[in-house]
Amino acid sequence: MAARPIAIIGGAGAEGFGLALRWALAGETVIIGSRDAARAQQAADKIKQRVANANISGMENSAAAAASDLIVLTIPFEVHAATLKQLKPAIRPGSILVDTTVPLAASVGGRATRTLGVWQGSAAQQAAELLPKEVSVAAAFHHVGSDLLMTDGPVDCDVIVCSDDPATSKTVRQFAAKIPGVRALDGGKLENARILEQITALLIGFSIREKGHAGIRITGLPEAAYNIP
Ligand SMILES: NC(=O)c1ccc[n+]([C@@H]2O[C@H](COP(=O)([O-])OP(=O)(O)OC[C@H]3O[C@@H](n4cnc5c(N)ncnc54)[C@H](OP(=O)(O)O)[C@@H]3O)[C@@H](O)[C@H]2O)c1
Repeated sequence: MAARPIAIIGGAGAEGFGLALRWALAGETVIIGSRDAARAQQAADKIKQRVANANISGMENSAAAAASDLIVLTIPFEVHAATLKQLKPAIRPGSILVDTTVPLAASVGGRATRTLGVWQGSAAQQAAELLPKEVSVAAAFHHVGSDLLMTDGPVDCDVIVCSDDPATSKTVRQFAAKIPGVRALDGGKLENARILEQITALLIGFSIREKGHAGIRITGLPEAAYNIP
């Protein structure tokens, strides 16, 4: 698995950069995507300064998507549909697309503590509708904030992965579990992404009121639920 590159669309931004940093620290091969190849390379260089021997590069978004079959989408909801339409020709059949997008009302000038209604049910389901069925979509990482990802310490948060394809879910859980502190759980079908996305708005409310970095832990399940088969 170490040789499978992870392409992060919007990876020069807060969430994508944090994930890129964590996967670079875990020894994974990472491609940072940006609308601007130079910005992507700058972000990759920044990670190289923090992580000795990091296997990381920067590319324009479509080139990054074409260079990997594990694509992580970290862009704001307001550009979600347009970006996916633009990337669609570059995404290879059989690829996994991991959607981290939260359709926050802030995207349209509203509050970050509220979500928008998405016709398909969630941003991740919108992604699945926009992409060919040969691309398997998972929803994940909605509750792991960029502030925590950018630190060096373990992340006190579980990652819940939703996908209609169990093999996709397993792969994404394996990559999530490479982040120290993260337990990666199977959150069931992609339709549950709606719930994941809404919980983020609640966590943002906690973080604002209590001046912290709220995360989430799922408790009370048998050990097997926290272990990836
Ligand atoms: N930040 C968090 O803690 C966090 C936590 C969980 C989930 N998320 C989700 O992750 C996604 C990214 O959040 P973020 O905080 O990382 O956002 P961000 O830093 O504001 O943006 C991420 C990247 O998106 C690209 N982008 C911005 N505006 C664009 C536009 N008009 N057209 C095309 N690309 C554009 C930019 O990349 P280039 O300019 O390099 O192309 C930018 O670096 C969101 O959907 C958010 O809900 C964030």
